[in-house]
Amino acid sequence: MRNVVLLGPPGAGKGTIAVRVAEALGLLHLSTGEVLRDEVARGTELGKLAQAFMGRGELVPDDVVLAMVRDRVRDQPGVLLDGFPRTLAQAEGLAGFLRVDAVVDLVVTKDEVVRRLGNRRVCSACGAVYNLVTQRPRVEGKCDRCGGALVQRPDDAPEVVARRYEVYERDSRPLVDYYARQGLLRSVDGARPPDRVAADVVALLRS
Ligand code: AP5
Repeated sequence: MRNVVLLGPPGAGKGTIAVRVAEALGLLHLSTGEVLRDEVARGTELGKLAQAFMGRGELVPDDVVLAMVRDRVRDQPGVLLDGFPRTLAQAEGLAGFLRVDAVVDLVVTKDEVVRRLGNRRVCSACGAVYNLVTQRPRVEGKCDRCGGALVQRPDDAPEVVARRYEVYERDSRPLVDYYARQGLLRSVDGARPPDRVAADVVALLRS
C-alpha cells in the first residue's frame, strides 16, 4: 500500500491512529494540521496567514495547503495523509500529483468528538497527544516522552470545536462519497480503543 488518505471529523483520532499505522506500514505520516501549527509556532509568513483561519476553526485556503503538501510528498515512497484533503478542490488537486491507493474513514459520533476534544491535551514541546480520560499522562500535566508541559490547543475551545465540526460537515464529509465512488473507501469504527482501531486499519491496508 503506497499512498493512503485518512478521513474523519475533528477529534476522530486521525493523529493518534496515523502515528501507529504509519510506523507499522513504513509510510511517511503527513498531518497538515501539524505542519500548519509548526509554521504558526515559528512565525513564518505561512504561519501568520494560517493562524487567523485556524483560530476561527475555518480551513486554510486550498491553494496554500495544496502547495504545502505537494512539496512534502515529492519523491516519497508512500505517505499517510492525515487531515488532507479536506475539500473536493483539494482532492482534485491532489489527484494531479499523487495516486491515492486507499482511503480510510474513521467513523465517530459528534458527541464523542466533542467529549474527546474537551479532554485533549497536547505537549507544548513535542506535540504528543493525550486525553484526560482515555490517554492520561503518567504524571499530571507533563508529557511522558519529554516532560514538556501539557496544554489545551487554542482551537479546542468549545465554540471553535463547534465551528470546526460545521466546516467538516459542509466541506469535508462530501469526500466520503467522492472516494466511495472511486471504489477506494473503507470505513472503520473509530469508537474503540486506539490500539484496536489502528490494528484494524493496518489489517485492512495489508489485505
Ligand atoms: P487538524 O490538526 O488536522 O485538526 P482536525 O482534523 O480537526 O483533527 P484533530 O487534530 O482535532 O483530531 P484528530 O482526528 O487528529 O484526533 P486526535 O488523534 O488528536 O487541523 C487543525 C486546523 O488546521 C484546521 O481546523 C484548519 O484550520 C487547518 N487545516 C489542517 N488541514 C487543513 C487542510 N487540509 N485544509 C485547510 N485547512 C487545514 O484525538 C483527539 C482526542 O481523542 C485526543 O485527546 C486523543 O487522545 C483521543 N483519542 C484518539 N483516539 C481515541 C480513541 N480511539 N478512543 C478514545 N480516545 C481517543
